[in-house]
Amino acid sequence: MDYIIKTQDLNYSYHNGQKALFDVDIGIKSGEKTAVIGHNGSGKSTLFLCLNGINKPQKGDVFFKGKEIDYSSKGLLNLRRSVGIVFQNPDDMIFSSSVRQDIAFGLLNMGFSSSQAEEKIKSISKFLNLENLLDKPVHALSGGEKKRVSLAGVMVMEPEVIILDEPGAYLDTVNAKTVYKIIEGLSQKGKTVIISSHNMDFVLNWADSVVVLKDGKAVFCGRTEDLFLNNELLKYACLDEPQIIKTYKMLINKGVIKINSPVPKNITDLEMLIK
Ligand SMILES: Nc1ncnc2c1ncn2[C@@H]1O[C@H](COP(=O)(O)OP(=O)(O)OP(=O)(O)O)[C@@H](O)[C@H]1O
Ligand SMILES: [Mg+2]
Repeated sequence: MDYIIKTQDLNYSYHNGQKALFDVDIGIKSGEKTAVIGHNGSGKSTLFLCLNGINKPQKGDVFFKGKEIDYSSKGLLNLRRSVGIVFQNPDDMIFSSSVRQDIAFGLLNMGFSSSQAEEKIKSISKFLNLENLLDKPVHALSGGEKKRVSLAGVMVMEPEVIILDEPGAYLDTVNAKTVYKIIEGLSQKGKTVIISSHNMDFVLNWADSVVVLKDGKAVFCGRTEDLFLNNELLKYACLDEPQIIKTYKMLINKGVIKINSPVPKNITDLEMLIK
């Protein structure tokens, strides 16, 4: 199986003794869209921080392209060029004084010249609606603006794997739409995209694969439609059934569509089934 990231018996505890991940075994397929879901505190953000080496597990391993993560500073720098992460809370990742400096930080570290970096900053800023904010001090931004700056800082580096911890959080409808468009663009370029979300309708429509966490344990890692047809697991993991799946089951029960009809991911798929 072509896993770009894999974990084996991954266990992680915080310094205060809080155990956050227990024996997590998951695989992320190259080029796929994977959603990591689970209730608040189930371990999604902790897992993400393990996948790009920020959290070092006390037990178990994380593999990138079949190799164990090298936790030396050189090893981690290399890993982070390939695996970028946009944190859930933008305040955790913005350090520089101006927006421009913040977006430039990773690029300059990677060895791009100032003019090459400026070129890339221009294009990502246009895309993320940040052009008017480039010279502003970061502390003077709204939550949504900070979130877009943190997205820009990672996306501009075009890592092979991009992890987005609740990318829609803090964003209004217009900016959320832009961000999801960019994420779709990343997938189309063949990038591996991993997202955490609490929106089950979005996950059904977007994800190829899903990892479900419950109380720090991975209770499912597989195809999206297999998860959403498994009522017991949804209940056990405290997850909502997407509206489309509810409607699909109701139409089967009423005999409107056949039992083995393909599982719809969105309203268009559902419409096709009843045409
Ligand atoms: N810095 C920390 N120090 C100590 N415990 C932590 C820390 N961060 C998270 N935890 C604990 O680890 C567990 C997993 O938290 P985590 O943030 O990974 O959950 P999550 O699934 O991302 O939740 P959410 O949906 O709220 O973002 C929780 O019990 C949480 O209280
Ligand atoms: Mg989280």
